[in-house]
Amino acid sequence: MSDASVIASQRVQDELVAAIGAQHIAAGEEIGERYRVDIIGKYRTAPAFLAKPATTGEVAALVRIAAAHGLPITTVGGQTGTCGGAVAQDGGIALSLERMNRIAEIDTTSMTLTVEAGCILQIAQEAVEEQGAFLPLDLGSRGSAMIGGCIAANSGGNRVLRWGMMRDMVVGLEVVLADGSIVSSLTKMIKDNAGYHWKELMIGSEGTLGVVTKAVLRLRPNPLTNQTALVALPSFDMVTRLLRDLEVRLSGQLSSFEVMWGAFFELISTAQLAQRPRPMALGHPFYVLVERLGGDPLVDGEQFERVLADQIEAGVILDAVIAKSEKERAALWAVREELRGAFDPLQPCSVYDVSMGLIDMPQFVTRVERNLEAAFPGAKLFFYGHAGDGNLHLVVSVGKERTGDGSQIDRIVYETVQTVNGSIAAEHGIGMSRLPFIGLTRSEAELALMARLKQALDPHGLLNPGKVVAL
Ligand code: LAC
Ligand code: ZN
Repeated sequence: MSDASVIASQRVQDELVAAIGAQHIAAGEEIGERYRVDIIGKYRTAPAFLAKPATTGEVAALVRIAAAHGLPITTVGGQTGTCGGAVAQDGGIALSLERMNRIAEIDTTSMTLTVEAGCILQIAQEAVEEQGAFLPLDLGSRGSAMIGGCIAANSGGNRVLRWGMMRDMVVGLEVVLADGSIVSSLTKMIKDNAGYHWKELMIGSEGTLGVVTKAVLRLRPNPLTNQTALVALPSFDMVTRLLRDLEVRLSGQLSSFEVMWGAFFELISTAQLAQRPRPMALGHPFYVLVERLGGDPLVDGEQFERVLADQIEAGVILDAVIAKSEKERAALWAVREELRGAFDPLQPCSVYDVSMGLIDMPQFVTRVERNLEAAFPGAKLFFYGHAGDGNLHLVVSVGKERTGDGSQIDRIVYETVQTVNGSIAAEHGIGMSRLPFIGLTRSEAELALMARLKQALDPHGLLNPGKVVAL
């Protein structure tokens, strides 16, 4: 660094320290590993500063300092987005809201949770449950994902088919804009059509339009029963038939419908054999994890069993295992959610979350298998996902000798998505890794509109630059 930039950097540090206190600012090498790398390990970064504010006012002060010095500022949450959406810029400011983790209010009359952005999702879920209410958002990374990150990413996860994505749960929002102004609307109203719904714009904007500091989330009554089953099916046609049958027969109480292709089930359940027995025999083309959250302890369990028995009789499902205890329930979910151990030996892996009409899913799978095999003979593909929402996950491993950052694999997958008019980003967002491909999913006119929104709200490109929109 030149003398001038050392002096400039010291001045920024002095201002940051004056704003929130020396113990909450780290610089350069003092910044811990977790703020420098995202979960897939693809992006490493060297932010100049890490700041951990405790209040919205402090966030605003930090954003103003960043603006005054032209420094990029990126909010860093649980870092499980998988596409580099929350990776700070080299030389920029990483903003962690982990100290802003308070639950301000659980209102079981209005059915709302008022919470700061740095609260971990699972902690919010458990606090709400203690009050007899239910926060439906649920994802594998619940133990590390922060509410603010879930809003910024418009997280989806396991229960979207019944309660929607994060967007459907946010009723009030507070954000800090790029000029350091605070916009706060922490209301509890589900219906509010007083002009532009600016909150919608912030949700899913990946920190590029504002910093989410607080939110009011919609709660639901706590379900009284829970039935979970793993079922095996002979074909994708039967998977979609089962989905529609369960929606009807379970009276709208089907809450998860997680599909796993045979190869995925085999890989994961085999990797977990040291911890738990395989829950069902190998060899079936499809497995689905079904969850129903109901309200009648007297009849729900029996009715669930009867519905599955009818589906076996009809030839829709070939086999079924119903969890009889919380431990068995957790073991079934582990096959769907505890993936890291199984995929570690296959690293480097590319992970996708694509979306399409269910009708196109089998064709997409066939095409992407064919296209990847042509370019990378012997490539290993594992399909699974939230099929109830048309959201397919795909993990690709082309072997240890994979060259580069995997963008050639990305291109093949995303161009195949384009052939079925799908989306390259179902629930994890665009971040950095998908930015070169967004044009496969969005039109020129849409991209121009996004760029205009970004320019209007962040004219100097300070908020999480390099993500979502290319300027
Ligand atoms: C999942 C992540 C990849 O559903 O979204 O496992
Ligand atoms: Zn997912």
